[in-house]
Amino acid sequence: MTKKLVVTILAAALFSACNHSTQTSEEKRIDEKVDSVMRLMTIDEKIGQMVLYTSDWDVTGPSLKKGYIDEIRKGNCGNIFNAHTAAYTRKLQKIAVEESRLGIPLLFGYDVIHGHKTIFPISLGESASWDLAAIEKSARVSATEAAASGINWTFAPMCDISVEPRWGRVSEGAGEDPYLGSKIAAARVHGFQGDNLGDTLTILACVKHFAAYGAPTAGRDYNTVDMSERVFLDTYLPPYKAAIDAGAMSVMSSFNEYDGVPATGSHYLLTDILRKKLGFKGFVVTDYTSINEMVNHGVVANEKEAGIMAAKAGVDMDMQGEVYFKYMKKALEDGLIPMKVVNDAVNRILHVKFMLGLFKDPYLYCNEAREKREVYSPAHLDASYDVAKKSMVLLKNANHVLPLKKGEKIAVIGELATSTRDLLGSWKAAGDWNFMKSILDEIKTYNGDANVIYAEGCKKEGEDRGGFPAALAAARKADKIVMVIGESCEWSGEASSRTNINVPGVQTELLEKLKALNKPIVVVLMNGRPLVLTKENELADAMLEAWFPGTMGGKAITHVLFGEYNPSGKLTMTFPRALGQVPIFYYEKNTGRPIYLANPKYKSRYIDCPNDPLFPFGYGLSYTTFAYSDIKLSTTELTAEGELKASVNVTNTGNVAGEEVVQCYVRDLVGSVTRPVKELKGFEKVALKVGESKVVTFTIKPAMLAFHRADMTYGTEPGDFKLFIGGNSRDVKEVGFKLKE
Ligand code: GLC
Repeated sequence: MTKKLVVTILAAALFSACNHSTQTSEEKRIDEKVDSVMRLMTIDEKIGQMVLYTSDWDVTGPSLKKGYIDEIRKGNCGNIFNAHTAAYTRKLQKIAVEESRLGIPLLFGYDVIHGHKTIFPISLGESASWDLAAIEKSARVSATEAAASGINWTFAPMCDISVEPRWGRVSEGAGEDPYLGSKIAAARVHGFQGDNLGDTLTILACVKHFAAYGAPTAGRDYNTVDMSERVFLDTYLPPYKAAIDAGAMSVMSSFNEYDGVPATGSHYLLTDILRKKLGFKGFVVTDYTSINEMVNHGVVANEKEAGIMAAKAGVDMDMQGEVYFKYMKKALEDGLIPMKVVNDAVNRILHVKFMLGLFKDPYLYCNEAREKREVYSPAHLDASYDVAKKSMVLLKNANHVLPLKKGEKIAVIGELATSTRDLLGSWKAAGDWNFMKSILDEIKTYNGDANVIYAEGCKKEGEDRGGFPAALAAARKADKIVMVIGESCEWSGEASSRTNINVPGVQTELLEKLKALNKPIVVVLMNGRPLVLTKENELADAMLEAWFPGTMGGKAITHVLFGEYNPSGKLTMTFPRALGQVPIFYYEKNTGRPIYLANPKYKSRYIDCPNDPLFPFGYGLSYTTFAYSDIKLSTTELTAEGELKASVNVTNTGNVAGEEVVQCYVRDLVGSVTRPVKELKGFEKVALKVGESKVVTFTIKPAMLAFHRADMTYGTEPGDFKLFIGGNSRDVKEVGFKLKE
């Protein structure tokens, strides 16, 4: 049967199937079409569908595959990543569809993490907006531009919980909290996949990195992950589950080992947990050559054994490793891998390709006119600006130094103030920084060139102090100083762990000299991880955490500085006072000698640093202030079938309108195992005009209080609880309630 015939029959059949689509019947009809294709496939062609190669358009790992185009033509490669634009993907798709024997369309994957061309704030920054609609919008726009550029699969959302700021990849996640991380993971999947993967401008999401990649020992990327099963199930698993429950149809296995087994070869993770416990129906792709790396891990002697272990564990697709390509057929012939393993994998992969509509129209995503219309559209740039301003966190604002007043003479200092590349952060996909405006450009546009003096002062890294005098001279001429400091965008993301998390180079040294001029100093931070800001917090009058805010970051930062937008972000990772406190996170355990004991010595403390962080989880200031009433409970006894409502009255007591993220935490006072001192169970971002009050109500149901108990069963335990509500995890009101049998 010729390929054209295959595609025609399938397209017609599927089209008719889609006309009677109820989810089940559509799934059933897709399975029938998948079976009809699989019956035509040779073993080589089946293995080809389990192969993913990178193009040479981008480099995101340690190896490049030469001759991937020939492999497509031969049917040895059914999927490509790091290729984009409608024109180039059309070229490759044409080879697959018209030159390979069966004409099975390609998947085109790319790391559209926080934008494709229009770039949004890095994911950690976005998470600080606590605005699920904005986060979903960011993923929606990213999907629209990616799909218009020929991409039908993104390697996102990254759902790795992390309490390790030394680990550079915290920049790609949603912070330390399982509840918030779960809500954000689901929002991102909805944004990418929409309601129907067959829609033109939706793309396949990929839940990564499965699993627990965010807990590398010592914060060193790719390092060993060693945690209890209870911590894994209660803290690290929830966001992956939420993304899968939201309909994500691909999962990426991670580089790390878990409980002594590399995730890519872990039957426990990829089958027992992912398939049986979470009910995942999509396909599993490895991370970059992670099958090959099982040899380095030392669980197999060679790549052939690695391939067998990965296939039996539940890996469907080999990213860039060529292990399935080289060894799968022989392993099947030698009976080392059951044919069912391959058939199941190919079925899952083809099922997703049908869901994406690729058999109906392989060129669905290769429309150059649409690409021109969608990429960098004004609406997309506006969306990027909107999310960027909402992601920023006001950490300090002594004496109301902020907002700046238009017309004030401002000295802008720092290399990062003129860098557009750094605004995009890591994993910038196809983002282009050459047309963008820098922070300095935007401040000049807003405040007038004559009112802005710039001096670089020093680089974002290195020890060169040669620019200090010019910076001091510029500052002397100004009313206020805005110093932009932080990390290079290359200092976070993959393979970018740090042994210290201070502001790099001599930036803080220059800040200290500027401070001696006794002028108001505003520090704007650009960084991809929590930093130790204890010194900067002493020196600066105001500090704004801007992360790497994306294509419109310069404008968003400027508008926040001048009060066009009242900052509303809240930290989603704890900022320590000192690296020695790490790992430090709000949902710690009480221990047997908690810090509040009267005994001055024998308690869980440091002799050289307070226990509490510099800035706690959920922290962020505003240009206004908010007052919270005492908490009112609908009942103090929550029954097994009941629910409890907790309400507070929040009032804007300042003199500008603003938004507040009202947060609700609980504590289980006595459990069969020790329980965290707080766990986030709800949040609501409310906008309040000056003097306005709103009642914010949270509903607590017993199921929200479940955990893995001493016997590892999952459920609740009756007893006393505390409930906390406030604007961060530290400054809260509290009440008690009981959970009844
Ligand atoms: C990288 C990353 C992963 C990414 C993949 C493809 O090594 O670990 O997050 O999606 O390779 O670029």
